[in-house]
Amino acid sequence: MAANEQLAMLVQPDRVHRAVYADAGVFDLEMERIFGRAWLVLGHASQVPKPGDYFTTRMGREPVIVVRKDADAIGVLVNRCAHRGATVCAEGRGHVERFVCPYHGWSYDRSGALRAVPVPGGYDKKKLENISLTPVPRVAVYRGFIFASLAAGGPSLEEFLGPARSSFDDLVDRAPGGELEVAGGVFKHAYNGNWKLVLENHLDGAHPLYVHASSIAAARGAPEPGAPGAEHYFDIAVRQMRQNGAPEALWESIGVWATPRGHGWLGDYHTDKRLTGGEDHPVFKEYKKKLIQKAGQAEAERILAVTRWNTIIYPNCSFMSQFRQLRIIHPLAVDRSVIYTYSFRMKDAPEQMFRDTIAFANVVNGTGSLVLADDLEVYERLQRGLASGTAEWVYLGRGYGRDADEADGTRRGASGTSEVFIRAQLQAWLGYMTQR
Ligand code: FES
Ligand SMILES: [Fe+2]
Repeated sequence: MAANEQLAMLVQPDRVHRAVYADAGVFDLEMERIFGRAWLVLGHASQVPKPGDYFTTRMGREPVIVVRKDADAIGVLVNRCAHRGATVCAEGRGHVERFVCPYHGWSYDRSGALRAVPVPGGYDKKKLENISLTPVPRVAVYRGFIFASLAAGGPSLEEFLGPARSSFDDLVDRAPGGELEVAGGVFKHAYNGNWKLVLENHLDGAHPLYVHASSIAAARGAPEPGAPGAEHYFDIAVRQMRQNGAPEALWESIGVWATPRGHGWLGDYHTDKRLTGGEDHPVFKEYKKKLIQKAGQAEAERILAVTRWNTIIYPNCSFMSQFRQLRIIHPLAVDRSVIYTYSFRMKDAPEQMFRDTIAFANVVNGTGSLVLADDLEVYERLQRGLASGTAEWVYLGRGYGRDADEADGTRRGASGTSEVFIRAQLQAWLGYMTQR
């Protein structure tokens, strides 16, 4: 096992060693010390609306079941039979009275307690009494989002999120009915690269003009969004891809913020106006009217004036409010990762708003997306480059020395393309990796 002193040498103020992305031993430690300690985003309460509803997922290397135990409580259980270790639930989601292991039929209730064993006479009855599926020690919900931590101790969820709570507030406050629900299934895609590469990309304002050049060019040649006869579904795609081609001066002028635990967000890249036609679009007008009816004029104005783009919750999540997308990153190996993408419907919003969400998912986050394909290609190129041993360091000096601490505990990059958020992620990495 690498000593903490050795780990500490890998992360320096404006550079990081390639081993952090390419060393399998470092990856094993990350699974134990980062994914085994941090609060991880697992999903949303709307995925388990009724007692007995469940879905399976992973926390680092642990396969887990997220289950609605009763109206008020969600539990997370390690998906491993207490008998000989079989996975109790197959991949997916469903509804159960009891979880029944497919191997010898042991059954567990929604809290994980062992309830029945076929042919129990073969066992010492006393020994069976305290057997259960292993519960994940800490589970908490913030604004409908389910989090869990494999560590019994550590900061509360509130403390962990810190100023990043406001991004979840932005996401949920935009729903006229005050709630979101996961809808339309889940996109899954894999890439041959380290899990951190995606977290280092989603707030990176220096890359779209180059990585996404081909889709920007295609969008510039497309019919004008909002033109008579143009299909609105298509407009979303064109607006997004054109926005990626915004001039460097715009990327420089927007804000990027990081929090002490490695979270961060990009601000002012998009406004509703740039992407949906804003005030002028009939669907947006109807949506705004509903929001005002529910929240009042002043509160609705306040909510719509928040113009955050992606928010990263370190170490496993990225989301954005404008099109209500959330991505969960599952590391499989040092050079292999899987992303799950969820789309949300806003309660009491016009149905067209959800159609825009799906259009956006298809354009930007889906497996057939013109935009995502570019980023995946770059992640794999990064991984290939970082696997080479001749050059050791990754340079993260953009904006270094010019970051500014803000009153709310965040740190703002000197410009919108500052690498401040990557530096903050790596400081969080170091904290988890070297904490005793
Ligand atoms: S392994 Fe589950 S019942 Fe035997
Ligand atoms: Fe990108």
